[in-house]
Amino acid sequence: MVIGAQWGDEGKGKITDLLAERADVVARYQGGNNAGHTIVRRGEEFKFHLIPSGILYAAKTCIIGNGVVIDPHILFGEIEALRERGVAVDNLRISANAHLIMPYHLLLDGVSEQTLGRFKIGTTGRGIGPCYVDKYARLGIRVQDLLDEKILRRKIHAALNEKNRLLELYDIGMLDGDQVTDEYLGYRERMEPFICDASLLINKALDEGKTVLFEGAQGVLLDIDFGTYPFVTSSNPIAGGACTGTGVGPTRINYVMGVAKAYTTRVGEGPFPTELDDEVGAALCEVGHEFGTTTGRKRRCGWLDLLALKYACRVSGITHLAITKLDVLTGLPTLKVCTKYKVGKKLFGEFPLHQTEFHHATPVYEELPGWSEPISGALQWGQLPETARDYISFISEYTRTEVKLIAVGPGRDETIVMP
Ligand code: GDP
Ligand code: IMO
Ligand code: MG
Repeated sequence: MVIGAQWGDEGKGKITDLLAERADVVARYQGGNNAGHTIVRRGEEFKFHLIPSGILYAAKTCIIGNGVVIDPHILFGEIEALRERGVAVDNLRISANAHLIMPYHLLLDGVSEQTLGRFKIGTTGRGIGPCYVDKYARLGIRVQDLLDEKILRRKIHAALNEKNRLLELYDIGMLDGDQVTDEYLGYRERMEPFICDASLLINKALDEGKTVLFEGAQGVLLDIDFGTYPFVTSSNPIAGGACTGTGVGPTRINYVMGVAKAYTTRVGEGPFPTELDDEVGAALCEVGHEFGTTTGRKRRCGWLDLLALKYACRVSGITHLAITKLDVLTGLPTLKVCTKYKVGKKLFGEFPLHQTEFHHATPVYEELPGWSEPISGALQWGQLPETARDYISFISEYTRTEVKLIAVGPGRDETIVMP
């Protein structure tokens, strides 16, 4: 499994692409097109929002699990764009139980942010939260509903009974149930060949001794249960989410690769103890090209928060780490890593349980020496400067987790695999 160990955008796409070489199946298990996963292959850049990052391998089955929320307009846009670039998507399979993002979800995402005003979450505006709300309210529309016109129409009308009242309240205007149904029926023919029982497919593959790679979206700190609530997404990016999001038991998962940048970024609102408002933060943003893959928003940047990373390792049972963007730190004379939080006079060595404490946490740093030589060409551990190796070793020792991959550039080959 590949998961984000921070607030998203850690480089999961790149690491998934790399590990997918050894897998037979690649499966997304949560989130939707709030995700933006970048792969750079032979200088060509691909950005995936819904389609698993294994799709560039013609022979791998790529699965969108039941835990994912799907905006069909975005899905088919992505499929078309890939086909135009010569990438076949015939091996894509979509769980019949995945929920669909509906037009009212997009509208409600927007108004709920507006209503929150200065307390807004800073969502991606893709209708993700409202779609998961309907899933749990048992008002959701699922992929399989597209196959039965009568049921689809009835369910959309039932949902609109409630949604239209809300939309009216917000002065947006009501949606016509038949019009929405007809629009979604228009996706049916294109969706049908992809629809599958994802749980059965994945478990069968495992029974046959095949390798399945789960690709998380977002990151542990954006998890609805374990993230910095309420500034989170509405799903479970943690490793456990793969079980509920695909229908695979926890006993079948044996390797969890947590991806973390060598520093920290966050996009959207919410607390971020190691955030830098100075020239170092600006340099990280500029050198690291820290602009959102999905929304283009500027990502907030700061030092590596090891306390948060240790927490991510705990709640997700991370067995190995991939540290990305180490190259971005080149040229900084001193590197700081947060090992404790201070709240008033209280010191925290573990992630605080109370969000109020986390909001007021100031970082306690340890300082490590930086390096000045470019490292993007390093192919092996021994080719990294000693101070860069010390930095990685410090991460590994603090989190008590083995660092297995070190990325020193966006390209597929710009990765050091630890022996
Ligand atoms: P994801 O959402 O976790 O897949 O990450 P994103 O694709 O949203 O953001 C990561 C960005 O960093 C992308 O533009 C990648 O091409 C880029 N990237 C990944 N690894 C590295 C690295 O080691 N060095 C540099 N300089 N860029 C990287
Ligand atoms: P990937 O998979 C970074 C953030 C949003 C916002 C919060 C809730 O590319 O790492 P949502 O639209 O999900 O309701 O927004 O979560 N967010 C992400 N931040 N990377 C992502 O995905 C994100 N997906 C959502 O910015 O703060
Ligand atoms: Mg991203």
